[in-house]
Order: sequence, then C-alpha cells, then structure tokens
Amino acid sequence: MDPAVASVGNINIDIAFYTQECPEKDSEAEADGFMVSHGGSAANFAVGISRLGIDCGIVGCVGSDQFGKDALEALRAEGVRTTWIFECEMETGAVGTIVEAKGGTRTMIAWRGANRMILEAVRRSPLGGSRHIHVSNVPREVLLEVMARRGDASVSFDPGGSSRVYTPEDLAGIDFLMLNESELEGILRGRMGIKDLLPSVGRVVLKQGARGATLYERGGILRCEPFRAEAVDTTGAGDAFDAGFIAALLYGEGLGEALKWGSAAAALKIRKKGARAGLPRLEELCKFLDMEKPYRN
Ligand SMILES: Nc1ncnc2c1ncn2[C@@H]1O[C@H](COP(=O)(O)OP(=O)(O)OP(=O)(O)O)[C@@H](O)[C@H]1O
Ligand SMILES: [Mg+2]
Repeated sequence: MDPAVASVGNINIDIAFYTQECPEKDSEAEADGFMVSHGGSAANFAVGISRLGIDCGIVGCVGSDQFGKDALEALRAEGVRTTWIFECEMETGAVGTIVEAKGGTRTMIAWRGANRMILEAVRRSPLGGSRHIHVSNVPREVLLEVMARRGDASVSFDPGGSSRVYTPEDLAGIDFLMLNESELEGILRGRMGIKDLLPSVGRVVLKQGARGATLYERGGILRCEPFRAEAVDTTGAGDAFDAGFIAALLYGEGLGEALKWGSAAAALKIRKKGARAGLPRLEELCKFLDMEKPYRN
C-alpha cells in the first residue's frame, strides 16, 4: 500500500558553519562551530511527519556518492519510505549555510546536484495512492506534473526559494499554500493581495518567524502566536512547521489546532542545531502542547 503522505522535493546534505556574525564579502572569519547533517526540505518534512507517527514516502533524488547512500540510510532509520527515490549518477545536492549566533539567522548557498532530476523521479512514482502530497521548493513543471497526477490526494505546497517562478494561476487547486512573507511577495509581485489567491488556493498559511503564523481562508483569518523558544538554529523551522500542521490535519484536528501543532513543532526544532535533530516525536509534541500556551509579545 502507498504511504499516507508523499513528500516531493529536495534531499540534501547540509554543511553549516556557526559564527557570531556572517563575514563580509572578500573577508575571512573564524567559525565557532561546524556541522554536517542531513537536510533538504522534502526530506526534513518526511522525517518530521514520520516522527509524528504518519507513514511517509519521499519522491526525490540522491546521487551515487557516499552522501547519497548516507541520506538514504538516515531516512530509512527514521521509518521514511525510500522506494520512490531516484538514485542518479551525479552528486547529491548540498547546501552550505552560515548560521549567526544572534537569532540563528542563516545565509545559504545551494548546489542542486541530483535534485535536478526531480521531474524524472515524479514521473516514475505513482503519487495518486497517498492521502496527502506535500511539495516543497520544486521547479514549476514538477508542481504541474504533481497536480495533474494527484488523484484524490490533498496537496500542500511550500515554494521556498522557488517562489519567484510561480504565478498565482500556477497554484490553482492547491489545498494549502505554506510560505513566508518574502516568498508570498515573490508570487504576488505587488500585483494583487493574498485574498486574490483564495478563489483558486484553498488556504494560505503564512509563516512569520518569531511573529508566529496566520492562516487565510475565504471565511476569514486564523492567527497563531509563536511558542516561546530560544532560537539556536532556525534551519528547517519552516519544514518542521509544515510537518506539524499537516500531521494534525491527518489526525482529524481542525485548522486552529493544526496551526498550533505546526508552531509547536517549529519551536521545538529551533532549540537544536541542524534541520532534523529537534524535530519532535508525537508524545513530545503532545506534552509540549499540553504544557505550553502560545504567548503574546
Ligand atoms: N524565533 C522563533 N521563536 C518561536 N517560533 C519561531 C521562531 N522562528 C520561527 N518560529 C516558528 O517557526 C515557524 C516557521 O518559521 P519561518 O516563519 O521562519 O518559516 P520559513 O521562513 O518557511 O522557514 P525556513 O527558512 O526554515 O523555510 C513560524 O511560523 C513560527 O511558528
Ligand atoms: Mg520555508
């Protein structure tokens, strides 16, 4: 049987340098710490939702190098299904990040590598047998292919760095558009407002960093204040949020509760270094939600 959720998008190796301040162009700085860890939005989302007890498979690509083998092993160890992952004769994608001590702000450079074959991976996968498909940061033709083959699955889309290639028309039929403010601006390009997206997109979930999150739907707006969290590393906060939000919906929770699950998963994530280390298990998330209430600044 197909997994309940298919996560479509990038699988990467993350190479992070932790520093007080990002060095100026043409200068050098000493890092306080260094870490190589597993990343890629689709893979982080898959691990996040799998830790919350939901069966998930990835549609994505890894290279034939050691990084690719390690990436597959790390996903399997988390219970994520890897049968739809396309192993290509090239390098696994890599992202170099400079994480600044103050607020965990990040500066990133991405090498797509094997991720460039994502359309082929999507074409080879069955897709429509899952209850839900989550798509993150993919080229336009990949999203369109997923939408054409979604079957009865609901679809969430987090455009990430790819937002500027999308027009509002491309997003027709998406159930949940999950993105931050600059990505939203990348799509709207000052030509229209968020409400203009709503006839064709079911709901827009706006992630606002330390200011929390807001859900827009035709009937109105739902707000979720952030949970108190000391930001050690915000890498993957958005993926953690997406995983918590979609998990809640698949467990039958309402939209307000889903916003809380997303915010809580992200708050727990940012307390630890790396995109995945802080991703909570279901028991941890439920305990956190019982004890902590979103707070107002
Ligand atoms: N400093 C913080 N304190 C508390 N919660 C936070 C903080 N930063 C992020 N969050 C939570 O994480 C969610 C997602 O983070 P953010 O808005 O940065 O998404 P994003 O820009 O998509 O992130 P990413 O760059 O990881 O893709 C926020 O909506 C919020 O709930
Ligand atoms: Mg994001």
